[in-house]
Amino acid sequence: MSRKVYIFDTTLRDGEQSPGASMNTDDKLIIARQLLRLHVDAIEAGFPISSPGDFRSVQKIGQLAGDDAAVVALARAVEKDIDCAAEALRGASRPRIHTGLGVSPQHLREKLRISEDECVERARRSVAYAKRYVEDVQFYAEDAGRADQSFLERVVQAAVEAGATVVNIPDTTGCQLPEEFAARIRGLREHVRGIEDVPIAVHTHNDLGMATSLALAGVREGATQVECTINGLGERAGNAALEEVVMALRMHEDALDAHTDVVASELTKASRLVSRVTGMQVQANKAIVGANAFAHSSGIHQDGVLKPRDTYEVIDPDEVGAQGSELILSARSGRAALRHRLADLGYSFPQTEFEGVYRRFLEVADQKKEVFDEDLDSLAQERERDVSAVYTLSSVQVVCGDVATPTATVRITDENGEEHVAAATGAGPVDAAYKAIDQVVAVHGDLHEFVVKAVTRGIDAIGEVTVRIVASGGAVYSGRGSDTDIVVSSAKAYVNALNRLIRTERGDA
Ligand code: KIV
Ligand code: ZN
Repeated sequence: MSRKVYIFDTTLRDGEQSPGASMNTDDKLIIARQLLRLHVDAIEAGFPISSPGDFRSVQKIGQLAGDDAAVVALARAVEKDIDCAAEALRGASRPRIHTGLGVSPQHLREKLRISEDECVERARRSVAYAKRYVEDVQFYAEDAGRADQSFLERVVQAAVEAGATVVNIPDTTGCQLPEEFAARIRGLREHVRGIEDVPIAVHTHNDLGMATSLALAGVREGATQVECTINGLGERAGNAALEEVVMALRMHEDALDAHTDVVASELTKASRLVSRVTGMQVQANKAIVGANAFAHSSGIHQDGVLKPRDTYEVIDPDEVGAQGSELILSARSGRAALRHRLADLGYSFPQTEFEGVYRRFLEVADQKKEVFDEDLDSLAQERERDVSAVYTLSSVQVVCGDVATPTATVRITDENGEEHVAAATGAGPVDAAYKAIDQVVAVHGDLHEFVVKAVTRGIDAIGEVTVRIVASGGAVYSGRGSDTDIVVSSAKAYVNALNRLIRTERGDA
């Protein structure tokens, strides 16, 4: 049996640091459920001191995960961060504090303004301090990729002596070559006393497009934890993509003497979910999960895959759950069938909320002949999003066409149950609907991105709209909406983004 490599998912922390990918607690819980279905070993749920929302997310995910995964909270190497992380993790069965500081000359000189000796001392003190709260303390040596190797070894030695249970070696700026990074891990294993009993984690960024190669280079040298994100989301060019790391380890298990316990057939679903929730589109040619990852267009390739598939395909699409969508339910299906299929897809709703999902399902089933899993995903997520809405769009009606002035009338219910009606004209039906919504909702965001996508096949497909709006302070919020009518999807997406803006400004996101 090969070595187990632990998968540490940081979609909800480093991934969330992607500009415009901010998630509220409900969004994070939706993704955390899918991470548990993937069987990741650790979920980094947030940076509790950074905001009440992150604190709440760590708390809730800690309760959700139970014994199924370690739940990790980030804390800089300062006592108030560690206190806050420990408090957020109080209800978790497998809490882990992830603390550390910069170790490169750039970080010591420009950011922290401390000497090497002070850095070593802070590493030692922060690990020891976190150990007062939890047994599982992971130490990170930020910007290890640009650190002096012997100094890195000194800092890691201090963390190990203070009781770190994992040491995380990040190439924070994604600047290393795989062989350079491998040499760092080798050096640590050769020179740090006691490191043989402490797992080494690799945390790599994609600034040169090599995050996955760097992570694998670390694994080859003995790292047994890889930190990664779904779709490679993350700061700047992102982190190592979980789906790439998992599939590369599956394919090269013998060469690398390493495997993971991730359920690969859940990868495509995880990718689509994260893309939907964050509003960050996946490029079509993205490895493993891109829309074209298993598409063949040239005649020679098409001929090849029609013979044995592996002529041009090294991964069976079924292995990563990328098979075509499945026809399952219709307008004649009852509540039991819907509940059963939703459970298969990983959704469960209390009876009161389920009724709302069922009503929406019937509306969609009335409009479409075939209801696919993706439609159900979309409905279920729409419901999960709406539960905490400040404003709910009850209806939208438009008049448009090449001779009419586009006009929209919207009906919106606020959180106190009061209904508001507004009408406006605009350059097109969506513009008119947005102007009408602006008359009701107290806040405004400038529209910066508007993407329409068909969720399933056919002219009657559900159209999903993702918008990105920018609030007056510069923060970016995404919103999504889905319906068989794309003007309705567009209006829902805008209201969803405004709800997120309001909840964040109120401090209850
Ligand atoms: O990239 C990095 O160094 C990080 C640390 C906080 C682990 O994300
Ligand atoms: Zn990072």
